[in-house]
Amino acid sequence: MKALILHGGSGTRLRPLTYTGSKQLIKIAGKPISQYGIEDLRNNGITDIAIILGDNSPMDVINYYGNGSKFNVNITYIYQGEPKGLADAIYKAKDFIENDDFIVYLGDNIVLNGIEDMLNFNGYASILLARVDNPNRFGVALIDNNKIIKLIEKPKEFISDLALVGVYAFTPEIFNYIEKLRPSNRGELEITEALQNLIDDNKTVNFSIINDWWKDNGTPDDLLEANIKLLDKFTPEYNNINKCIHGRVNIPETSEIVNSQIYGPSHIGNNVTIKNSYIGPYTSIGDNCIIEDSEISNSIIFDNTMIRETKLIESIIGEDTKIKKTDNKPKNSKFVIGKGSIISLE
Ligand code: TTP
Repeated sequence: MKALILHGGSGTRLRPLTYTGSKQLIKIAGKPISQYGIEDLRNNGITDIAIILGDNSPMDVINYYGNGSKFNVNITYIYQGEPKGLADAIYKAKDFIENDDFIVYLGDNIVLNGIEDMLNFNGYASILLARVDNPNRFGVALIDNNKIIKLIEKPKEFISDLALVGVYAFTPEIFNYIEKLRPSNRGELEITEALQNLIDDNKTVNFSIINDWWKDNGTPDDLLEANIKLLDKFTPEYNNINKCIHGRVNIPETSEIVNSQIYGPSHIGNNVTIKNSYIGPYTSIGDNCIIEDSEISNSIIFDNTMIRETKLIESIIGEDTKIKKTDNKPKNSKFVIGKGSIISLE
């Protein structure tokens, strides 16, 4: 079995973060979102993986994953370019797949304990479903008599609360169905429509319903929720217990904590300096950051960021950003800030 990880798309709902980087490479609890998918595949014995690249920072993806050897997988890169839909992205991998069955993993989805049920599917395809509160944001499935009878992309009216999770399994038969698709109202080749056509031809599409946590990381609130869930589960690589570090905190030896209190679960990257500050719980801090005289909790701070005299909660701070307060009043600031910003809080 092979696998595809989709890294294209525009990520409009995550702007400004996605103006300068791919959403799938956003690090949560120390790892890019799509690395959780790659590790899930590898842990289930799938090592032949193609990453489908879009136009948003494809070189960053290649530089991070390389040939896959660091992650014990073999990675091939396939260029999709413009985001013309999931089915278009999958079709670009037809030559790579040849006659094998394959898993498709959306690179912005995190599915803990996800793909095991998909490995031995029978029929022409298999999908993962989960109950959601907001089905109009997802493709949804209507089930009758333990069979899928209808799939609808982002339904305006309620038909079911069973949403398609971003992991699918296919036989190569799917390519014959993608070939016949026409762009939908939103101008995309829809994989739900190809699956619906399989169902209409009485070609079995299996499903399983997951009860474990999963996340489709489309919005800043999704990222903050994923940060909480992943930090709740993570095991720190380095856990220097001392009197200023409380709970599960990853602090590599290259990082320095001076006169600060750090509460877990939190993840601190490499070469980070934290002085006179309070961090956590539920804070992911990237590499090469400087944090001084600040309080940060429930937040994701990207690499190379400098934060001084600032109080942040539920914030996402992009790479290479500098934040400094300029007056003496404490502030409780909630931000989503893109790469390279310089901010002074008045
Ligand atoms: P979406 O979240 O549906 O789309 P998007 O990433 O462009 O985000 P937004 O809706 O905020 O603009 O995409 C799901 C996943 O599939 C994501 O990892 C990107 C990937 N994708 C492709 O690789 N190619 C495509 O043509 C599309 C539409 C998505």
